[in-house]
Amino acid sequence: MIIRPMTMNDLDQVAQIESESFLLPWTLDHFKYEINDNPFAFIFVAEQEQEILGFIDFWIMFEQATINQIATKTVYRRRRIGEMILNDALGRMKDGSAEQVTLEVRISNQIAYNFYIKHGFALVLEKENYYEDGENAYFMVKKL
Ligand SMILES: CC(C)(COP(=O)(O)OP(=O)(O)OC[C@H]1O[C@@H](n2cnc3c(N)ncnc32)[C@H](O)[C@@H]1OP(=O)(O)O)[C@@H](O)C(=O)NCCC(=O)NCCS
Repeated sequence: MIIRPMTMNDLDQVAQIESESFLLPWTLDHFKYEINDNPFAFIFVAEQEQEILGFIDFWIMFEQATINQIATKTVYRRRRIGEMILNDALGRMKDGSAEQVTLEVRISNQIAYNFYIKHGFALVLEKENYYEDGENAYFMVKKL
């Protein structure tokens, strides 16, 4: 498995993972914006034999990094692919001189919450009505 920057050729596979992973999935235009236009965005995929197994989108804005999306293909979950993608991204954030990384996660998403706690994120506060459907988010932080 390799981890490499996402390209426009990966759009269909990544959008498929996105739609099976999130209640309010990003549109193709949103991914295109992240790949082509957003100067702060980094978007990486894990690939094996031309199959995309997972991806991550994060921003580095000076000393601050933010994870926006991370997902692995449903059939390959709990096989440490998420862990490899996250650890690779954390290394890139450090190399990019970020000092801390933050994220929001749905309070109902116990699996992702466990995943982040396992990797050293701390719960800082709860953001009310954070998502369009009204769900609250946990705001989590990790020092790099
Ligand atoms: C969160 C996610 C990326 C984890 O990816 P993954 O490849 O399945 O994760 P890993 O195999 O690396 O698991 C690492 C840790 O995550 C947690 N975890 C993963 N799956 C879990 C499950 N089914 N139940 C409980 N904890 C789980 C555990 O802490 C696990 O460590 P352990 O196996 O030693 O207990 C994946 O579940 C996913 O794509 N979820 C949908 C999208 C999402 O919610 N993204 C995060 C919000 S932005």
